[in-house]
Amino acid sequence: MTTIALPRLALIGYGAIGAEIEACLKRLGETDRLVAVLVRPGRSAPAAVHDVEALIAARPEVVIECAGHEAALAYCRPLLRAGIDVLLSSIGILSDDAVLADLTQAEAEGGGRLLLGAGAVAGLDGLTAAALAGVDAVTYLSYKPPHAWRGTLAEQTIDLDHEVEEVVFFQGSARQAARDYPKNANVAIAVALSALGPDRTQVKLVSSRKVTDPLGVIEAEGAFGRFRFEVLALAAPSNPKTSALTAYSLLQCVRLDAGLPVLLLPGVKTIAMFTHADRFAETRA
Ligand SMILES: NC(=O)c1ccc[n+]([C@@H]2O[C@H](COP(=O)([O-])OP(=O)(O)OC[C@H]3O[C@@H](n4cnc5c(N)ncnc54)[C@H](O)[C@@H]3O)[C@@H](O)[C@H]2O)c1
Repeated sequence: MTTIALPRLALIGYGAIGAEIEACLKRLGETDRLVAVLVRPGRSAPAAVHDVEALIAARPEVVIECAGHEAALAYCRPLLRAGIDVLLSSIGILSDDAVLADLTQAEAEGGGRLLLGAGAVAGLDGLTAAALAGVDAVTYLSYKPPHAWRGTLAEQTIDLDHEVEEVVFFQGSARQAARDYPKNANVAIAVALSALGPDRTQVKLVSSRKVTDPLGVIEAEGAFGRFRFEVLALAAPSNPKTSALTAYSLLQCVRLDAGLPVLLLPGVKTIAMFTHADRFAETRA
């Protein structure tokens, strides 16, 4: 039997997701694959490093970003340019076309791949297939209990002490959703990039008394048929804003080599992207 070596893995961030990934690697007996964890100066973690140069020097084959939008914006580019794959959890940064173009340019220059995983949802593989088979409409619905929307623009849009069971307080494109509700952008943009892109993918944000934890629903329809995927992903014990499933989704993407290359996704379709894609294909050939 052939033994397949798991890639040398590193993390950016050691919060709810990072710690869960490390704990899971321990349970699997695979901690030797974790070669570095980038944390802020003064913070500790297994195999801790404190700057991107040290992260690159540890020679990971793939880095899971699980630190947030600011860290993703700071570190993805140098890693891709160093030829290292990056599995992105803070996918919302890709709602900005300039960021998307910049990172795909870094891929073309360095050979690292920018990868997505489904994170807190699932079903992105089905969406990419539907995009080829013919899809006309994709909607991502995010249901959360009223208190979970506090600290967002929803507070200024509706009374979060509403008595009715459900209030749809946002309905618009994934790009608008990412702009107005950046903390909820990661899944919306992952769904968008998997099929129709940020402008044609619809998002509905719902304050609901029927749920206690985040409920995500992806609906798609078109020539391929109909698709509905629903996931009630319970919050991580150490961060109520993060579904625990996210850590396992990211880790399995690395273990199974199943991250989706952003450049090849159906929703990544601007002229600039295709220009970079051609160059990227040439550098890989
Ligand atoms: N794709 C998805 O479905 C999905 C779901 C949940 C969260 N996320 C993303 O994952 C991110 C992390 O989630 P979490 O629950 O682990 O958050 P968390 O707040 O528990 O942990 C984040 C950690 O990253 C560290 N960090 C932040 N900036 C850093 C930097 N520049 N350098 C080094 N470390 C840095 C923080 O100190 C913290 O320890 C979120 O911000 C979000 O963008 C994605």
